[in-house]
Order: sequence, then C-alpha cells, then structure tokens
Amino acid sequence: MGKDVIIACDFDSAEKTFAFLDKFTGRKPFVKIGMELYYAEGPSIVKEIKKRGHKIFLDLKLHDIPNTVKKSMAVLSRLDVDMTNLHAAGTKRMMQAAIEGLTREDGTRPMLIAVTQLTSTDEETMKTDLLINEPIDKVVMHYAHNAMEAGLDGVVCSPLEAGKVHDTCGKNFVTVTPGVRFADGDIGDQKRVMTPAEAKKIGSDYIVVGRPITAAEDPVAAYERCVAEFVD
Ligand code: C5P
Repeated sequence: MGKDVIIACDFDSAEKTFAFLDKFTGRKPFVKIGMELYYAEGPSIVKEIKKRGHKIFLDLKLHDIPNTVKKSMAVLSRLDVDMTNLHAAGTKRMMQAAIEGLTREDGTRPMLIAVTQLTSTDEETMKTDLLINEPIDKVVMHYAHNAMEAGLDGVVCSPLEAGKVHDTCGKNFVTVTPGVRFADGDIGDQKRVMTPAEAKKIGSDYIVVGRPITAAEDPVAAYERCVAEFVD
C-alpha cells in the first residue's frame, strides 16, 4: 500500500475549498473532507473534487445500527470516495455491515478505517462519562483489533500509536495519523505531534495534515515538503 500525505480540507464552503485546490496545478493531493464541508455542501462537493482528479478520504465517522450504517456506506461507495471511516465503538457487527454496504458489485470498495477513541476523550472522561474502566491504551488497541477482525483496513491514530497498532494488528493494517507538524512550525492546538519524517520512521501509512499546509504562505511548497519528508 502506498504511503501518502492527505490534506485536511477544513474549509466551510466549496468556494474556499476550490480557491485552495486551484493552487495545485501539478500533482493533485489526496484530500480529507470532514463533516463541516460535507454538511455545508452535500455530495456535490465530493463529485466535484473527484472530477478534479483528487483522491478523497470522506471523514464522516459513522456510528449507528448495522443496517443504517450498511445502507449509508452503500451511498458513500457510489460517490466513489477512496477512503471513509466509522467509530469502532459501533461494534464488530456494525463494522462488518459497513463493509458489506461499501463493497461494489465487482468486489472492490473504498478503504475503511476505524476511529478508536477520539483524542478529545482522555482516560478520565472515558471512566466518568462512558464508564469504561480499562486503561485508554488497552481500549484503543482492543478497538483496533476488533476493526481488524471485522475486516477493516486500518485505524486513525496518533503517530505515537502507529508502531503499537502495527505490532498488534500486523504491518498491513493501515495507520492514518493526524497531529503532524514541521519541526520549525506552529503546534497550534495539537498536543502530541510528530514531524512527517518522524511519522515515516515510526511506520505511519498516511499522514493527515491540515493547517501546516492550508495556513501556509505557500501551501503547494508546504505540501511538497511533507511529501519529500514522508513519502520520497
Ligand atoms: O490542522 P491540523 O493538521 O491539526 O488538522 C488535523 C486534521 O485531522 C483535522 O481535520 C482534525 O479534525 C483531524 N483529526 C485530528 N486528531 C484526531 C482525529 C482527527 O487532528 N484524533
């Protein structure tokens, strides 16, 4: 599987997104579309970006009863996205249903990635709000293992967890890691960060990079720097 840099297109309108993507006249980056942009613009934003030649990670984090997730995944599959995701907390049965929904008649399907525990949830909140009393690392690895058993392709995780996920679930189980910053860049609101080069060393398969590229003076140069550090 190919290592790649995915740009988090965290814009609130199609106009801003296209103004940003128009800068990329050469190589067309893999982009992540999240809930804000998708709910603002609907499926047309996905079709339009696909038409421009980008791969798309549609980050909608589905979590519902298996039947609903299966049918919704069938819709996302028809949108021809390249990667999408769900919450592993929805159970193995929900994840298996998701794969059934995603799989096209010819047997192909987009990559399906699980969210384990959101990084906004810490061990304390997990205990008090969710009544989960196990250590958070154990929960994350257990959810990753469930995702693997359900047939998913990988998980979203911190680059710091990527090595352990590969140890637990195998080298071919994909790790998609946000929280990436250049060594000389702003950390912003991210707490635990790694440079693209460090993420490569630890074995991340895809890095998701937002503001270090979207807020850069020269986004194309920042993207090419990420690719040079992580992929090349
Ligand atoms: O701008 P920045 O590089 O921090 O963007 C990272 C992207 O990855 C954002 O779209 C953010 O929502 C997403 N993300 C994250 N941490 C997670 C899961 C997703 O930063 N644990």
